Amino acid sequence: MFTEAYSYDDVLLLPGYSDILPKDCDVRTTLCADVKLNAPVISAAMDTVTEEKLAIAIALEGGSGVIHRNLSPERQAQQVANVKRYLNWIIDTPVTVGAEALVKDIKVMMERFNVSGMPVVDKNGTLLGIITSRDLRFCKDDWLPVVDVMTQRVIVEEGDPSVASAREKFDKHRIEKLPVVDDQGRLTGLITVKDMEKHANFPLAATDKTGRLIVGAAVSPQDYTARMPLLKNAKVDYVVLDTAHGDSKNVCDAVKGIKDRFGVPVVAGNVAAKDGTRRLLEAGADAIKVGVGPGSICTTRIVAGVGVPQFTAVWDCAEEAASYNIPVIADGGIKFSGDITKAIGAGANLVMIGNLFAGLKEAPGREIIYDGRIYKEYRGMGSLGAIKDGAGDRYQISKDESPVPEGIEGRVPYKGELRNYLHQLVSGLRKGMGYCGCKNIDELKKYHKFVKITAAGLKESHTHDVTITQEAPNYSRG
Ligand code: XMP
Repeated sequence: MFTEAYSYDDVLLLPGYSDILPKDCDVRTTLCADVKLNAPVISAAMDTVTEEKLAIAIALEGGSGVIHRNLSPERQAQQVANVKRYLNWIIDTPVTVGAEALVKDIKVMMERFNVSGMPVVDKNGTLLGIITSRDLRFCKDDWLPVVDVMTQRVIVEEGDPSVASAREKFDKHRIEKLPVVDDQGRLTGLITVKDMEKHANFPLAATDKTGRLIVGAAVSPQDYTARMPLLKNAKVDYVVLDTAHGDSKNVCDAVKGIKDRFGVPVVAGNVAAKDGTRRLLEAGADAIKVGVGPGSICTTRIVAGVGVPQFTAVWDCAEEAASYNIPVIADGGIKFSGDITKAIGAGANLVMIGNLFAGLKEAPGREIIYDGRIYKEYRGMGSLGAIKDGAGDRYQISKDESPVPEGIEGRVPYKGELRNYLHQLVSGLRKGMGYCGCKNIDELKKYHKFVKITAAGLKESHTHDVTITQEAPNYSRG
């Protein structure tokens, strides 16, 4: 069988009638199950792209990071836990003290847990008061019981408070901590002014139901039994079965295994055709990740001679997944913001990006100065270096065998902070939606109007017959 397949550079979206401005386009999307994002972008599970710093930065801007698995299960789970802890809305298990505790103990606890105040509760968990560093400031006697020093008339929230009501109480009473109680007066949580401020500074943050940042983690068919209990405990929102060839028995079995035993949403991949998509969907995958060989550091298509140009791969897999109403993630090959618009236009819910994020300040790769410019290290997870550090099972390479890489090690230009860069990417997508008159991601997914272009068309699309004298933040041909 022989069919023609296209990559992003082979096509352009056809402009259409529009009654919407880019700034009013809604770019929210579903990643999988009930995991929702405010920007349709996730960062690749690669050891030069996503660790906790980048995962925090991208989630604060509405996307999500997938923590790579070239880390021990413990370190990976710890990173997930750190992302989840970064932004709280209601802390559901705050540090508390009993009324009989002494001031000296309180001081030790505050230092140990790095908190500036704690609710005081009785044995049934009923709130009695709150002790803060403000209460302790003028207390000279370390042997006093906390009940003598604490603030007794506490301002509280009851039940399931809204952000607006909490904010009003913080402003009105000039407090720093707001306990939440049930209708019996028992403590159910704590809201802090610091967390309120963080929420206010990042209005686009992608958060779970409890207001914590959304984060994913990579697992494999070989290691998920070791990683899943720790990741679940760390409250990971979804896991990504991170394999180069998702259309295989062990990946389908792993999807079932994770769903049955751990009940965490599973993104499965990678596939590039309808059959593979269907098999993963029937195994129970909550989202399908598409891409065999489009990545900037990938050599799979050259080494193995296998793959599908990414536009066609996304189109075909998304068509299959649409009949199951399951999201597709277009993984790899995004070079410019316009490729995101094309990927979603081909039916994806969102894209996964490695290269464009590897140069960000928050990415874990080393900085390299070369020829007077700053770069950051970026390598494929199938590269020699990554295999040596443990990533070989993604490419079915065992530790004692001589590695045959499917990726390379390289560098990408330093790009500064994620916040500004992601803004460029998402704004490019919005512009595309504006040109097509698509108000939201669903409309763009169903737009389905593309033209196939020639090599001359691509040449015309890029800048031509000019020397760029001032680099643009969203365009470079490095
Ligand atoms: P970009 O184009 O954003 O792609 O750099 C990132 C995606 O590439 C995949 N990946 C690899 N594919 N060999 C491959 O064939 C590799 O060594 C490799 N490392 C990463 C992965 O899907 C990632 O999200």
